[in-house]
Amino acid sequence: MISYKDLGLVNSREIFAAAVAGGYAIPAFNFNNMEQMQAIVQACVETRSPVILQVSSGARKYANQTLLRFMAQGAVEYARELGYDIPIVLHLDHGDSFELCRSCIEMGFSSVMIDGSHLPYEDNVALTRLVVEYAHAHDVTVEGELGVLAGVEDDVAHEHSTYTDPNDVVDFVTRTGVDSLAISIGTSHGANKFRPDQCTRNADGVLVPPPLRFDILEEIERRLPGFPIVLHGASSVPQEYVETINKYGGGLKDAIGIPEDQLRRAARSSVCKINIDSDGRLAMTAAVREVFASKPAEFDPRKYLGPARDELKKLYMHKCVSVLGSAGRV
Ligand code: G3H
Ligand code: 13P
Ligand code: ZN
Repeated sequence: MISYKDLGLVNSREIFAAAVAGGYAIPAFNFNNMEQMQAIVQACVETRSPVILQVSSGARKYANQTLLRFMAQGAVEYARELGYDIPIVLHLDHGDSFELCRSCIEMGFSSVMIDGSHLPYEDNVALTRLVVEYAHAHDVTVEGELGVLAGVEDDVAHEHSTYTDPNDVVDFVTRTGVDSLAISIGTSHGANKFRPDQCTRNADGVLVPPPLRFDILEEIERRLPGFPIVLHGASSVPQEYVETINKYGGGLKDAIGIPEDQLRRAARSSVCKINIDSDGRLAMTAAVREVFASKPAEFDPRKYLGPARDELKKLYMHKCVSVLGSAGRV
């Protein structure tokens, strides 16, 4: 058993309380390699932001759990070396079983998500409760989920059944003991969050997706005052990255994300953790494609992974400063 405390990591309890009270959200950036980790730490140290290093089960398989643990410990020491000791959480993203959550806790994770959102309600409660009991015995915090994030095939403007039902939240939080709750209010995973026919065009001809369901968020906040809420699927899909990728040979079609002003509004509420993965993938891919196209003779990975890392850092600094409001909070 490796305790996250020995690695210099923190759980999410105190940083969530501060974020809810302060009206900002902590960035949860997914990572699975060194350049991503460097970009996250550099961006969050320079902006003085707490950060959640987030690892999916796929990322854990890709990178190896032992290496990830040492990378997270390295992230803590790297931040200190860069001159500032920011709070760093190592979080399991979308854990799907008790065994996976337990294994991550035993390997130094300070926070886990148990995602029972696709299960029948009572099964979700029972599984989440089991994880909470084990996690809390080790002072590890737990994120649960209620409601299913819409996929691009769903008509989010009409598919109300996938949104979180505010009638469930008090019962779920009370019976499971979770520390935070992921909800579904119109976000979804990936770079294709809406179909163009679900959007309207503004005066500049830019596609504007249907707004998030702030009415549901407000009702959840009313039922659970001050309780930490989490938004998944919160990438904005910057169109300049999509254009660069497509200009240099990519084939992204109808890539549409959540407008930043919607996320800014969410961050000011009790939403205290905002998950961003796809935007980072787009930033790296755009930078790598640009190098490949402009310097076809280049074959040193540092010459394309370096620019990808720099672009990622720029993106993450922008998120902390201008979208989540987490900059300057430590
Ligand atoms: O929510 C999912 C995250 O973007 C992680 O994706 O399972 O491809 O690592 P992944
Ligand atoms: P995006 O695909 O919108 O970046 O969402 C990431 C996420 O929710 C990870 O859990
Ligand atoms: Zn997610």
